[in-house]
Amino acid sequence: MDKIIIEGPNILSGQINISGAKNSALPILASTILANGTCQLKQVPKVQDISTMIAMLAHMGVNAKLENNIVTTNENNQKGTTAPYEIVRKMRGSVCALGPLLTRYGEAHISLPGGCVIGTRPIDLHLKGLKALGASIQIEHGYVHASCKKLKGCRIFLGGNFGSSVLATDNIMMAATLAEGTTIISGAACEPEVVDLANFLIKMGAKITGAGSHNITIEGVSKLTGATHTIIPDRIEAGTFLIAGAMCGQNLTINNMIPEHLDALFDAFDRLGIKYKRHQSKVELSYSGDYTSACDITTLPYPGFATDLQAQIMTLLAVQPITSVITEKIFPDRFMHAAELDRMGAKINIDGGTAIITGQSNLSGAEVMASDLRASAALILAGLVAKGTTTINRVYHLDRGYENMVGKLASLGAKITRKS
Ligand code: EPZ
Repeated sequence: MDKIIIEGPNILSGQINISGAKNSALPILASTILANGTCQLKQVPKVQDISTMIAMLAHMGVNAKLENNIVTTNENNQKGTTAPYEIVRKMRGSVCALGPLLTRYGEAHISLPGGCVIGTRPIDLHLKGLKALGASIQIEHGYVHASCKKLKGCRIFLGGNFGSSVLATDNIMMAATLAEGTTIISGAACEPEVVDLANFLIKMGAKITGAGSHNITIEGVSKLTGATHTIIPDRIEAGTFLIAGAMCGQNLTINNMIPEHLDALFDAFDRLGIKYKRHQSKVELSYSGDYTSACDITTLPYPGFATDLQAQIMTLLAVQPITSVITEKIFPDRFMHAAELDRMGAKINIDGGTAIITGQSNLSGAEVMASDLRASAALILAGLVAKGTTTINRVYHLDRGYENMVGKLASLGAKITRKS
């Protein structure tokens, strides 16, 4: 198992380019199941989740090849309709094959995702939407068996107890593209990755309006063709590097990003007194000394503060001389990183879905363990500013969603290496 070793503290200077968004590329790759013809996807990040999805698609009629961040797909004669436990267990994003398989081939057999360290990962909203479209759904031996000759459009409310659902919105939107008649999804997720998927589907010939709002309308069509598309930059990677810059940047520039996708993070920076310069597709910032105004954060569906940046902002708050509160409304158990940060000297108290961070000036390097993708990023940020050596184990979590994170940080001057 690889580990990452960081000698702290560090200063990050210079500039890096943000990669394509993993959480946009995954559903877009799944949607190529719907294409009659070849697709070309640009700016696809070279990360483990993408390789996992490509491996799965090969059994589902799609040959996909990733080269120099470009995926080219061709149809193959495999017409598998099963996403096995082995794959879904590792990557919940694979549930977004459900909608495309069902609407294209009339059936889909997807392993239930089960839980992960950030909490249970139910798919009741996905199933509610597909049932509303006319699918019959059986759950047996840990699998969802969905079937339907021809889905029929209808109005579906997809809001859940924790707000909207990104992948449920994706699944129902994709299923509705080939359904009969009109589907209206109310309570839809508004994330930029949902909009990116809608834009790709429209290029394939789908008739979709309202993506990005809580109401998406899809007119069913008879078939979809191949298309070419460039994946949007990864707002979570950009946010991670912005937080790193706010902690230890000196004239750090983050290129190839969309600042509008991070308004909630910039709002938190404003409340903390963090200075930054926002341009059309890049942001410049430097660490400007301890931030003294406290800042409470609540994670919410987009455009609220992204739950995928919660662990990273916790690290920043842990090293400021302020006491802050983070309320995690999306995945209330998503605090595994707190205990590891405490081992580095942070003072974080967890009470249900709330974390109280008593900030103080420094952390000390330690051996820590990554528990999930974003927790790994948070531990790297901590290691960058901690005094001494930080060793992060189980970095395979990081490889799932960050392209060349170590290389990018090293290019900014960080004393960071990866050892097998
Ligand atoms: C997507 O997961 C992202 N993954 C997650 O990123 C992200 O944290 C999450 O959206 C929220 O923004 C991908 O896009 C591949 P949800 P998704 O359905 O779609 C509950 C990362 O680190 N819910 O929007 O699975 C759910 O339990 C990953 O890149 C139901 O109750 O998340 C959660 O509390 C982690 N029933 C809330 O909704 C359902 O049927 C939002 O989850 C589905 C979800």
